Amino acid sequence: MSNRRTFAIISHPDAGKTTLTEKLLLQGGAIHLAGEVKARGQARRARSDWMKIEQQRGISVTSSVMTFERDGITFNLLDTPGHEDFSEDTYRTLTAVDSAIMVIDAAKGIEPQTRKLFEVCRLRSVPIITFVNKVDREGKSGFELLDEVADTLALDVSPQGWPVGMGGTFQGVLDFASGEVSRPEGPSKEFRGKREADAALPDEVAEEAELARIGYPEFDLEAYRNGDLTPVYFGSALKNFGVTELIEAIATHAPPPRPQPAGEEQVSPERDEVTGFIFKVQANMDPNHRDRIAFMRQVSGTFKRGMKLTPSGLGKPIAIHSPILFFAQDRELADTAEAGDIIGIPNHGTLRVGDTLSEKNQIRFTGLPNFAPEILRRVVLKDPTKTKQLRKALDDLSEEGVIQVFYPEIGAQWIVGVVGQLQLDVLVSRLEAEYKVEANLEPAPFATARWLKGDAKTLGEFEGFNRANLARDRDGDLVFMAKSPWDVGYQQEKNPDLTFSATKER
Ligand code: G4P
Repeated sequence: MSNRRTFAIISHPDAGKTTLTEKLLLQGGAIHLAGEVKARGQARRARSDWMKIEQQRGISVTSSVMTFERDGITFNLLDTPGHEDFSEDTYRTLTAVDSAIMVIDAAKGIEPQTRKLFEVCRLRSVPIITFVNKVDREGKSGFELLDEVADTLALDVSPQGWPVGMGGTFQGVLDFASGEVSRPEGPSKEFRGKREADAALPDEVAEEAELARIGYPEFDLEAYRNGDLTPVYFGSALKNFGVTELIEAIATHAPPPRPQPAGEEQVSPERDEVTGFIFKVQANMDPNHRDRIAFMRQVSGTFKRGMKLTPSGLGKPIAIHSPILFFAQDRELADTAEAGDIIGIPNHGTLRVGDTLSEKNQIRFTGLPNFAPEILRRVVLKDPTKTKQLRKALDDLSEEGVIQVFYPEIGAQWIVGVVGQLQLDVLVSRLEAEYKVEANLEPAPFATARWLKGDAKTLGEFEGFNRANLARDRDGDLVFMAKSPWDVGYQQEKNPDLTFSATKER
């Protein structure tokens, strides 16, 4: 069986994802960090700092790949930006993982962003391990948290341990499987490896733990892998409690690389051909070069450096001479990758989010969505002679997935669409820094966009009547620009033979 575990951490900002990531990497002895774990402290969420990092490094602070090894298992942790403005990127990253850890703040329970991300995982039946973080502080009771997960997410919960006190009374974490209690040590009250078997527990804790153990379903591998049940671990990322248990849970329970959908077909990791799909494109480190790194999730086969793969968007093979293999600790290994691994492929814009790469060019992976933008803006040039540069920039940035671009059928006012405000800030700043184009973003007369599908005749008729509300996206596909969500409903009703789709799969 494959020794790869490719996963992501989902959480609401501040729940402790960064801290947990660091602890996982520390325990695993990270081999390579593509992009650092984001800067600590308040600064990390200040918009200006995000932008500065984007500019200085020329890469977005968004999903990077971190790989570590432990007991013969290779863990690929794909980072997802916690900032909700980057949710589109996060969603796409979640299409490239086989499982996820959901981090919950013990004092706050399920928060909106956790819930949203969870729903994306559920769409794809991504199995979830839950980590209730910060039990070293005062929080909700364990039962309250378990019931909250079960009720709000409609999931079976299976507690795997129990906090021995919380906040001021915190004395460690009991592990149900081993019966041992991990104990805090030293003035910082961290876990440093002290585990007590047959530890005496306060009566109340012993009672609660017993209730938790018998009152909730036992762990069931199949139910977990189907996304119907989540094992719940209590811990503290900051104080190192529960981190080892979490790594072990991923190693033993989390699924190895799963088959990926390609239309009607499921492509198995055992298929003896290298296949993969691009889930992310980043501008390269050096802002003076327009190089990009496309991140490919390998689905099958054994990749070797120099191999020729055909991108679906291009139709002819390209040789992958200088792949970035994130797990490559020593140079010897840097030449191959397996199903489940992520390969960074430098390119000049040939590879786009959603592209399939394969040796035989016979399959197309499906299920990588573009999301209907929630914010639309008109791009107004300060210097109207720069139209060409602007078009190039908008095309590039939409290929990278930073924005979506819509070229209206009538008029020359190009429109950009994003899911979150921060994407707009990044757009303006990158237009200036990389393309020397100064532009203003002004309100657009539209509220949302829908991709249109239908037979050529129906589409043609609709086009004839609605040209003022139609645009083409980067691929030339027809998009209905709606003045309001009501407008979408109205048009859908009037045109039952057309679909107005809020997502587009490439
Ligand atoms: P995020 O990536 O999910 O946004 O969260 P992050 O890890 O940055 O953690 C958010 C805050 O919660 C940080 O404090 C962090 O130190 C704290 N934290 C994380 N895990 C634990 C835990 O297990 N117990 C306790 N008590 N606190 C935890 P901060 O003050 O916002 O940042 P910093 O200045 O301390 O870095």
